[in-house]
Amino acid sequence: MRKVGILGGGQLGTMLAEALFALDAQVRIYDADPRAPGVRRLREAVSAPWSDQAAVGRFVEGLDVLTYEFEHIDGSPLRALGDSLRIVPSIRVLEVTQDRALEKQFLAASGLPHAAFAVARSEAELREAANRLGYPFILKTIRGGYDGKGQFHVAGHEDLAAAILALHERKSDFSCVLEEIIDLAVEVSCIVARDETGAEVTFPLFENAHEGHILDLTLVPARVPAEVAAVVREVALRTARAVDLEGVLCIEFFVGRTAARRSSGLAAAGLHVYVNELAPRPHNSGHVTRNACTASQYDVLARVLLGLPLHEPQLVDPTGSYCMGNLLGDVWIEQGRGAPGQGLDLSCWKDHPSVVDVVLYGKTEPKPRRKMGHFVVRAADADTALAEARAFRDHLRGR
Ligand SMILES: Nc1ncnc2c1ncn2[C@@H]1O[C@H](COP(=O)(O)OP(=O)(O)O)[C@@H](O)[C@H]1O
Ligand SMILES: [Mg+2]
Repeated sequence: MRKVGILGGGQLGTMLAEALFALDAQVRIYDADPRAPGVRRLREAVSAPWSDQAAVGRFVEGLDVLTYEFEHIDGSPLRALGDSLRIVPSIRVLEVTQDRALEKQFLAASGLPHAAFAVARSEAELREAANRLGYPFILKTIRGGYDGKGQFHVAGHEDLAAAILALHERKSDFSCVLEEIIDLAVEVSCIVARDETGAEVTFPLFENAHEGHILDLTLVPARVPAEVAAVVREVALRTARAVDLEGVLCIEFFVGRTAARRSSGLAAAGLHVYVNELAPRPHNSGHVTRNACTASQYDVLARVLLGLPLHEPQLVDPTGSYCMGNLLGDVWIEQGRGAPGQGLDLSCWKDHPSVVDVVLYGKTEPKPRRKMGHFVVRAADADTALAEARAFRDHLRGR
């Protein structure tokens, strides 16, 4: 029996564990938080700080392979393990994707389409980079940013002054990336899986809508012209090959309405394709694959980890649509169930037969903006799927 270790016991690590169990693997999960879903749900779970080298050492003992569910972990202790242990995706992939500057530089060096950017490491460099790139731009802190954390829309000098003040107040270091703003028609993501032998598969494209910088709804298949979908898939595969991926990689794309002035997009069907960012792990938008595809992102990663053959995931219903909606802690709070340990009232589900799945992650404390669960709608077409998803969530919120 193969032994797999997962760093991170959130929803992604926990759903990966389920897929691994289905293939009869043995799974161990590590999370600093003893209340993390994976730590509570798995028998073989370790909870200790990330910096506890002795605990990490014991955790990896006897493992055949180690993977991780999020990229914001310190790669240095892992680098020390890398010689004796198979780590998937590799440390190089982790290091490139956890640092926005390295990620952008990787895209540029690999000739992959991306938004024009400038990197700054200090306040003075930030002012200089702003002048060089020109307004408006989006400022993103280099490390630790996700779900729009550490991002500023900078339209001119006044916004820059406000962003600098905010960075001072947060005692944040000034390492950041400045990006030209893309005139978005739509955002899509593409998951690629690649194994040790270089065999590769891609998932159907997802169309993503964000609210307050957090993923809100994912629609499959994405409503983009076939020509754009072909370019996105090709760029996704080129990206995976360029980092020599083993594992899964989710590539977020911007599809622009107009050609951005300073950026190098790929034109298709009158639209413009740019890589936004990379995640070397299962992705929030990929939850929908559990219902919409013949194999989920978790199943496919499990096969890579266990050395089993890959098959191109197909849409279960090629003529219909699926929509995944995130359930944030706000929904619990709006139901008056914000206290720790209070479950979500799902009684209105009976009025929404198109909702084929609800997944609750087992996080004990609902907080605003915290991802606590998701649901999936199956419908005959995209508009119905989106409308049903919105109606179900409004109903849960008592609206
Ligand atoms: N250069 C840009 N042009 C237009 N919109 C952007 C740009 N950068 C970010 N955004 C918007 O902000 C969202 C979050 O940015 P992203 O870089 O993906 O950070 P995160 O790590 O928080 O997901 C994007 O999905 C997009 O909606
Ligand atoms: Mg993103």
